[in-house]
Amino acid sequence: MRVAVIGMGRVGLVTAACLAHVGHDVIGVDDDAERVAGMERGELPLLEPALEPLVREGRRAARLAFSSDLKATIRDRAVAFICVGIGHQPNGAADLSAVERVTRRIASAGSRDLLVVEKNTVPANTGAWIERTLAMYATSGARDIEVASNPEFLRQGSAVCDTLHPDRIVVGVGSPRAAGRLRELYAPILEGHFACPFHPACAPAGAVPFVVTSIQSAEVIKVASSAFLAAKISFVNMVADLSERVGADIAQVAEGMGLDGRIGGAFLQAGLGFGGPCLPRDVQAFVRLAEEMGVDFGFLREAVKVNARRIEAAAEKLRKALLTLQGKRIGLLGMAFKPHTDEVRHAPALALAAHLLQDGADVVAYDPRAGAAARNVLPRLVVADDPYAVAEGADALVLATEWPDFLSLDWARLRRAMRRPVLLDGRNALDREKLVAEGFEYLGMGR
Ligand code: UDX
Repeated sequence: MRVAVIGMGRVGLVTAACLAHVGHDVIGVDDDAERVAGMERGELPLLEPALEPLVREGRRAARLAFSSDLKATIRDRAVAFICVGIGHQPNGAADLSAVERVTRRIASAGSRDLLVVEKNTVPANTGAWIERTLAMYATSGARDIEVASNPEFLRQGSAVCDTLHPDRIVVGVGSPRAAGRLRELYAPILEGHFACPFHPACAPAGAVPFVVTSIQSAEVIKVASSAFLAAKISFVNMVADLSERVGADIAQVAEGMGLDGRIGGAFLQAGLGFGGPCLPRDVQAFVRLAEEMGVDFGFLREAVKVNARRIEAAAEKLRKALLTLQGKRIGLLGMAFKPHTDEVRHAPALALAAHLLQDGADVVAYDPRAGAAARNVLPRLVVADDPYAVAEGADALVLATEWPDFLSLDWARLRRAMRRPVLLDGRNALDREKLVAEGFEYLGMGR
């Protein structure tokens, strides 16, 4: 099928590369001519495991091309995904100007028989608004343009695998014809044969459920799913606080809870809380939608507050262990919002670093990938280029992002370099018994 993907950010580029991988003829469109030229040279604008070989493969097979000319490339396409970013206005409301710009250009390209699919997370009712905008700006030649919603549920760091074997594909459509076209597009993925050949952890999942809904339902499914995951993390973090008080261990509690099929073990990892560019944004979008619709979703506002309090709780543990944070040297292992990414937007690790700096501590941090990005966001943070350097003369160490590399560090060497042996395992990822035996004063989050 001939497909256009508009907006070469993470969602757009991964979607384009994966659709080319499963056999479609894909053009990735972006206004940024420099970005397009870079991608044509094989330089990707973002870090995502398995993406680079997939793009290379698509280009070699001539199934994936890039362009900055939307009008010229879209005319003969059957499906056009809108994957341009959603900005935010100063009052927190979504800024849909990029979506509007793209929609108007699609309308004026004179397409016949085109399915326009919104893929990025957008406020509910954006589908209806795109439909109206298309009708308003359609040139006389334009015919049979329909709109659908096909939300993405991609996680950074496993976006390729999440696309090739998703838990489900949700399509919000206005007609059986639109559903049929999307089913045909996704057929190779729905059959469940596509492992991601470039990523060792990837395995085919078997047949994938194809969920056909109204456009509005698809939009709500996206934000409600994110909000539920965020609430699940906040719930387990509250249980962690309680477990700590009663002398239980949240790791054991979460395992026991998660084995109940109705609860499930995923997203029950207690620690510094959730962050990143997407989950907090989706939760805010859901809270806002509820407010606009007159539904009191106080429960979710509370989940957001619980998440913010994780940072204060972690700082408090250090304050208690060190009597004061003033003048103390704290080493931070990890700055990215989660492992396998260089993304630091809304990273709990950086929120904690900012909090500790504010309280008068000196903070030295190391991250395998996110050092440069963190420096831009928090210039007062000292960024080391070696994990052992953060322990040098430190009064405490904090594991803030659970990079696998950190689990196999030489902890005896770290311990020897420190002034005091306080260790806060902000992600409950380390082997407590082993570290206590090494002489650390181990602090967990709910253990
Ligand atoms: C998330 C959603 O998973 C995805 O479906 C949606 O489309 C976008 O937002 P992502 O932002 O890549 O994806 O990260 P995710 O892996 O979900 O983690 C989000 C945050 O929650 C991270 O900061 C992570 O450390 C934290 N987290 C996750 C926990 O604190 N505990 C958990 O058990 C799981």
